[in-house]
Amino acid sequence: MSFTGSAKMRGMLLIFLVVFVTWPHVADAQFPRVCCTVEGILSKQCCPSFSSDPADLCGTLSGRGNCTDVRVDTKPWSGPYRLRNVDDRERWPTKFFNRTCRCSGNFSGYNCGECKFGWTGQNCDQRKPPVVRKNIHVLTPAELQEFLDVLDLAKTTIHPDYVIATQHWMGLLGPNGTQPQVNNVSIYDLFVWQHYYSVRDTLLGPGRPFKAIDFSHKGPAFITWHRYHLLRLERELQRLTGNENFAVPYWNFATDQTTPPSSVPSPGFHDGGVVCNSLDQYNQLVTLCNGTSEGVLMRGFPESTNNNLSLPTMNDVRSCLNLKDFDSPPYFTNSTFSFRNALEGYDRPNGELDSSVTNLHNLVHSFLNGTSALSHAAANDPIFLVLHAFTDAIFDEWMRRFVPPNSSFPDEMAPIGHNKDYNMVPFFPPVTNEEIYVTAEQLGYSYAIELDDTNSTAVVVLLGSTLGGVFLGLLVLLLLLVLYIQQRRKRDRDFEPLIKAEFTTKKYTEEA
Ligand SMILES: *[C@@H]1O[C@H](CO)[C@@H](O)[C@H](O)[C@H]1NC(C)=O
Ligand SMILES: *[C@@H]1O[C@H](CO)[C@@H](O)[C@H](O)[C@H]1NC(C)=O
Ligand SMILES: *[C@@H]1O[C@H](CO)[C@@H](O)[C@H](O)[C@H]1NC(C)=O
Ligand SMILES: *[C@@H]1O[C@H](CO)[C@@H](O)[C@H](O)[C@H]1NC(C)=O
Ligand SMILES: *[C@@H]1O[C@H](CO)[C@@H](O)[C@H](O)[C@H]1NC(C)=O
Ligand SMILES: *[C@@H]1O[C@H](CO)[C@@H](O)[C@H](O)[C@H]1NC(C)=O
Ligand SMILES: *[C@@H]1O[C@H](CO)[C@@H](O)[C@H](O)[C@H]1NC(C)=O
Ligand SMILES: *[C@@H]1O[C@H](CO)[C@@H](O)[C@H](O)[C@H]1NC(C)=O
Ligand SMILES: *[C@@H]1O[C@H](CO)[C@@H](O)[C@H](O)[C@H]1NC(C)=O
Ligand SMILES: *[C@@H]1O[C@H](CO)[C@@H](O)[C@H](O)[C@H]1NC(C)=O
Repeated sequence: MSFTGSAKMRGMLLIFLVVFVTWPHVADAQFPRVCCTVEGILSKQCCPSFSSDPADLCGTLSGRGNCTDVRVDTKPWSGPYRLRNVDDRERWPTKFFNRTCRCSGNFSGYNCGECKFGWTGQNCDQRKPPVVRKNIHVLTPAELQEFLDVLDLAKTTIHPDYVIATQHWMGLLGPNGTQPQVNNVSIYDLFVWQHYYSVRDTLLGPGRPFKAIDFSHKGPAFITWHRYHLLRLERELQRLTGNENFAVPYWNFATDQTTPPSSVPSPGFHDGGVVCNSLDQYNQLVTLCNGTSEGVLMRGFPESTNNNLSLPTMNDVRSCLNLKDFDSPPYFTNSTFSFRNALEGYDRPNGELDSSVTNLHNLVHSFLNGTSALSHAAANDPIFLVLHAFTDAIFDEWMRRFVPPNSSFPDEMAPIGHNKDYNMVPFFPPVTNEEIYVTAEQLGYSYAIELDDTNSTAVVVLLGSTLGGVFLGLLVLLLLLVLYIQQRRKRDRDFEPLIKAEFTTKKYTEEA
């Protein structure tokens, strides 16, 4: 019941704080509200004006962009989804809109009204200094409060620009073809809805889901999709705080192996409630998540008695960072020696295939149990942000280590949604996997983290083994060891941990 005064326990407390933030709720999602009129949907054109002049589509009068046909990936895909023209997310987003703004230069956004990530200024021609994502444990009390407050605000503020579709494409205009089936949604719940929508089943008929489809997991897009998802939310949070340097913190799940104190009550925190949880019901009714509250957030980990899982270790993290191939055929859960598959958690950390294994990202979701363990609902738990920020930090370390050419991202024969040129579902306006397969710095953020600390050990071994200099070697070794320990202590203070937990429904690791 009681916290012992260690740093780790303090860490756990922070996590719980994050989780205990109470939220009321509303809902909304993926297309711009201005485009969701009957005419807009029938015309399949979403090219809003940038100014008060209706002719200024996509800011064309000031050279920001123009309205063009959507480009889609036409390369073959592999994986278990072999149907064609059944799912309205194929050739995304052309089932809904086939003309959108293409912005020039550093402009972006649905009407070319914003800057690409990493750019700022009236004309988006100034480099924005990278925002720094820090360990949640090193935030100042004021920074932590800002984070908790803005989560709260995001959960209650209707998204200013986007709404969510509440029906599949077929029913999007309602029974009479006169009423677009869209809802307002809060900024945070849009984030939840996007994740749900990317993993939802294909419907073959009422109550006949085809489950072997996933646009954001089990393939190379796992990395790029979650990175973009978090970036979008981070930008919204920057707007809400009015602090353009606001950055989402990360939780180093590999360095905080503390078991949460059993005294902390688990389910039931949050009156506001989760959205997009009733996958089976949507399938039965042939509908989509409409953003209404569907109960409370669940967490298993305060009573991890039934759960024998333990969080990944730094050795696991280092191990996957040694895999030089981004991904390998068939670019799925059975890819071997694939950095992506190891980090996602379907392989052993060293890249060996073992279908019984759950590690790294998947393991953390499983550990947390409850809402976090269900891929369609996981983003309801704000721990999702700090978990995925750390996963992305590992990816960024990998990028800096191997400097991969963009050709290392598969061009074809990845599962649907996972080819390099596929527009990531359900982001709008369209953005491809390739556009996000760049360093964090190019996207305007960085991590205050040091994941690459194997070198000093190597030096020690090398010195210690020279025969002639055994004595000297030992001395140096001792010195290095002391330095190393000091460094580590410092690092532990400066940039370290968050939790340990476990999970279970469509589970992250479930076979399709
Ligand atoms: C689209 O915009 C670019 C740059 O603003 C311009 O050079 C190009 O001519 C435009 N294309 C069309 C078809 O208007
Ligand atoms: C876009 O959709 C409209 C409306 O369905 C259709 O008339 C048009 O041919 C489509 N354009 C392309 C390039 O597919
Ligand atoms: C972004 O702006 C900078 C500075 O004006 C410019 O050098 C760069 O080419 C722009 N990027 C693109 C993609 O146009
Ligand atoms: C659809 O049309 C029917 C018959 O005209 C009408 O009774 C009903 O209210 C309409 N429904 C909607 C959602 O507009
Ligand atoms: C959504 O919110 C906007 C602006 O807040 C409002 O004008 C609109 O009527 C709302 N739409 C729905 C479907 O509630
Ligand atoms: C919204 O979704 C919930 C949960 O599936 C459902 O109970 C409710 O009837 C839906 N509301 C509307 C207006 O369809
Ligand atoms: C995880 O969730 C399952 C199903 O909800 C439950 O049976 C199990 O006890 C939970 N484990 C923990 C450690 O809470
Ligand atoms: C957890 O481990 C204990 C001891 O190894 C074992 O008795 C128990 O059955 C395990 N529980 C689960 C749910 O695997
Ligand atoms: C990987 O899994 C897929 C789907 O289960 C299967 O079709 C394929 O043969 C497997 N590939 C390898 C190399 O094991
Ligand atoms: C990918 O690499 C090719 C060749 O180096 C380059 O032309 C292209 O612009 C790159 N694409 C991106 C998105 O960086």
